[in-house]
Amino acid sequence: MENDPLVSARSLTKIYKAGAVEAPALRGVDLDVHGGEFLSIVGPSGSGKTTLLNLIGALDSLTGGTLRVLGRDMGSLSRRQKADLRLRSLGFVFQAYNLLPVLTARENVEFVLELQGVGAERRDHAKRVLEELGLGDLAERRPLEMSGGQQQRVAVARAVASRPKLVLADEPTANLDGENAEILMNMMRRLRDEHRMTFLFSTHDPRVVAHASRVITLTDGRVAKDDVTHNPSDG
Ligand SMILES: Nc1ncnc2c1ncn2[C@@H]1O[C@H](COP(=O)(O)OP(=O)(O)OP(=O)(O)O)[C@@H](O)[C@H]1O
Ligand SMILES: [Mg+2]
Repeated sequence: MENDPLVSARSLTKIYKAGAVEAPALRGVDLDVHGGEFLSIVGPSGSGKTTLLNLIGALDSLTGGTLRVLGRDMGSLSRRQKADLRLRSLGFVFQAYNLLPVLTARENVEFVLELQGVGAERRDHAKRVLEELGLGDLAERRPLEMSGGQQQRVAVARAVASRPKLVLADEPTANLDGENAEILMNMMRRLRDEHRMTFLFSTHDPRVVAHASRVITLTDGRVAKDDVTHNPSDG
């Protein structure tokens, strides 16, 4: 249904086990995320931000509670169904850019489109996505020929090339200076505004948080605060 949340967690828990030692990373998270939100997850180191993003992104499996992502019950998906969900319906941006070093910017975008089953038109599609985001000049450069800020902008282009409903970004600006962080956040916000993509990102940087339409604070594996902000880009 149109108004169903994209993400819905109830009493969500995650316990990491190393031998006999149990490390509870999430201790009962309740959270609904709706289409078009630009949501920032903050909280001290070890509070569970990455764990939560990894569960929502089908990169890890939950221990208890329920988690629905884009209508799927994450507790009951097979490995294959999770891989399919990651590839076809979610976009990922990581702290360390993670572009393939031997491929150009265009080829990095094309590579993901190829995995998604896009045919011969993927070359033009990749070029178009880069151009739309103002990255046309970088299309034929390899990661080593780009700055960190440029690499991360290409990584966002790659993440959104097939217009996923939900984009997950774990500390996307952690390796960027203030100016590049600002460019990246504006780019993601434009994608949210123009394509109604939903973004969920974690950060430690107050300047990045300032862009959010809502801020969730995790403390010790629980949602300690949930603030809707009055961001100027809303409404
Ligand atoms: N693979 C793992 N195995 C065991 N324990 C883990 C694992 N991943 C995370 N943890 C533990 O789970 C808790 C939450 O970690 P998580 O990485 O989600 O925190 P975070 O909020 O992302 O921290 P940071 O701000 O440092 O990135 C921590 O206590 C961490 O040590
Ligand atoms: Mg983390």
